[in-house]
Amino acid sequence: MTTDDTSPTDLIGHYGRGGLLAAIDAALLESGLDPAAVTVEDLGPVDEFHVGGRVATTRLLDQLALGREPHLLDVGCGLGGTARLLASGPAARVTGIDLTPEYVAVGRSLTERVGLADQVDLRVGSALDLPFDDGSFDGAVMLHVGMNIADKGRLMAEVARVLRPGSAFGVYDLMRVGDGDIEFPVPWSSVEATSCVDRPEAYRLAAEAAGLAVEAEHDRTAEATAFFDRLAGGAPAPLGLHLVMGPETPTKVGNMVAAVRSGALAPTELLLRRP
Ligand SMILES: C[S@@+](CC[C@H](N)C(=O)[O-])C[C@H]1O[C@@H](n2cnc3c(N)ncnc32)[C@H](O)[C@@H]1O
Repeated sequence: MTTDDTSPTDLIGHYGRGGLLAAIDAALLESGLDPAAVTVEDLGPVDEFHVGGRVATTRLLDQLALGREPHLLDVGCGLGGTARLLASGPAARVTGIDLTPEYVAVGRSLTERVGLADQVDLRVGSALDLPFDDGSFDGAVMLHVGMNIADKGRLMAEVARVLRPGSAFGVYDLMRVGDGDIEFPVPWSSVEATSCVDRPEAYRLAAEAAGLAVEAEHDRTAEATAFFDRLAGGAPAPLGLHLVMGPETPTKVGNMVAAVRSGALAPTELLLRRP
């Protein structure tokens, strides 16, 4: 598959469905929260669109050993949950970039509501053509985005280009670790043609070719299966990722969980650094 096979239009069609902010507001009200006075913490169940949610984000960030960083980049920021978490912790400023206009628009509204608009800038754009000067950022993260990007080489080269020397780049993606079938739809793709899951080796080779050092790699299957078990045990809360994934949520999640449990996919962290 080439980069052109995953056209932005296909992806935006998969992710953006309209009415997301209104659905989030209704769910906040149903949860007893005032949509105009939410906190970064309140939004965690709906704005962290990856396996393990905010717990997984925090685990990744903790390993990056961030200090008080002037400016971080969130590649494929979605609704901006990770960007807001970073801005309320280790980052003075965070820029997020994402292909899906609706996510960026909703993310901006949520950012204003939590009072972080001066620190968090969310923009529509492609990870494969980052609209930033070389060496603009002091670190970067990317959570569950590489599964939509066939050209891992260009992705890594772009992120490496915009990082200052010494910066960390934390990646958390579902990666191919076994040969079993993956059924579609899954949360990141309605059809196989827009799914670009790849092996950890492909990420590592792409990172190294871009001049990034691979410091660590962790398979988080055990943590993910415990998370799936907890999800299966409880009644769904009003505020959750079903608002983002839409009516096909049970099928999308079921197919993803099956692929992880069968050993075809593993939620995998890669800790990279620009020397
Ligand atoms: C599963 S969501 C994860 C969002 C966010 N990182 C999170 O964890 O909440 C994948 C996101 O990647 C974005 N995406 C996919 N390909 C992209 C690309 N080439 N450039 C920028 N964003 C992209 C999609 O629009 C979508 O918001």
